[in-house]
Amino acid sequence: MREDSLSRQRFAQIQQLLPATNKDEVLNAPPMANAARPIGLEQYYSEAGPDYVAWSPEFNMHFGYYRAGANPLNREAMLEQMNAEVLARLQVDGITEPRLLDLGCGLGATLRSFARRLPHSELLGVTRVPWQVEQARALNASAGYRDRIGVIEADYENTPLASSSFDGVYALESSCYAQGSDKRRLLEEAHRLLRPGGRLVVVDGFLRGRFVSRAQQRIYRKVCACWVVEDFAERQAFVRRLEKLGFREITVEHLQMRVAPSVMHVPWVSLKFLLTDVVFGTRPMTRARWNNVLAPLLLPLVSAPLGPLTYCMITAMKR
Ligand SMILES: C[S@@+](CC[C@H](N)C(=O)[O-])C[C@H]1O[C@@H](n2cnc3c(N)ncnc32)[C@H](O)[C@@H]1O
Repeated sequence: MREDSLSRQRFAQIQQLLPATNKDEVLNAPPMANAARPIGLEQYYSEAGPDYVAWSPEFNMHFGYYRAGANPLNREAMLEQMNAEVLARLQVDGITEPRLLDLGCGLGATLRSFARRLPHSELLGVTRVPWQVEQARALNASAGYRDRIGVIEADYENTPLASSSFDGVYALESSCYAQGSDKRRLLEEAHRLLRPGGRLVVVDGFLRGRFVSRAQQRIYRKVCACWVVEDFAERQAFVRRLEKLGFREITVEHLQMRVAPSVMHVPWVSLKFLLTDVVFGTRPMTRARWNNVLAPLLLPLVSAPLGPLTYCMITAMKR
């Protein structure tokens, strides 16, 4: 009973994060039908989305963070560690009920990880994919977080959320989908949503330097096409944009070696997927599903040390 009323209270608090005019509609609305929007991203994640379970039963749709002493064979633990590393950099320890926003939340695995780690928090995720909204809400509900985590369909470059309403905002392997080489609109929106003193954490692949050959550039284009990414951010341009927006305490961490152990799981996961889901599976193998197999296999050919794509965690504080 007490738990119930606490949940309702949290739900009401999450609702406060939404604009006054339509918060009920936004939070409770069934995911919208795919109206007049570009279909690439929605189609990709709706068709290939269920396949991510082969990578992570918890639906962590990102690479893992390896710490010395950890078991490099335990992929899920490394994926979960990445969530923990993001949370650590948001620096919300001293805040009684931190409000955190996931820009590009996928199926909400990071939000559920945060809900476990921060029992007194208000968590909200946005994704552009209606199928993910539906699934993330179902997964949140079955984990007992129906009223603690909100997930809404929105474009993270232009959300309906109130300004200065979050203590921390993060984008975990989702910033690559934002427009431009400096991801200006995403960073402007993150800046608007953060309260002064709040922190932004972005984890993703960033371009630094040149391609060594035309062939490598073509492979990079193929990786982007497979994942429906226009272009990964250019690291320098991205950091300059953060500076221009007035962010302070900008730090760039190079995580190539940290993610390498989980990247090494890709061939094995792909092989297992091909045998179980392709050979014996019942769902039709669409182009989006094949792309999801191909992109991670090509990724090492364009990533450091062979290519210019480097995996970084970039942290900044709003003045
Ligand atoms: C690779 S998934 C990462 C999901 C999640 N962060 C995780 O690590 O499990 C990329 C996510 O970014 C979301 N995304 C891409 N562009 C977006 C946009 N413009 N607005 C909101 N979400 C977006 C996709 O819908 C997807 O959920």
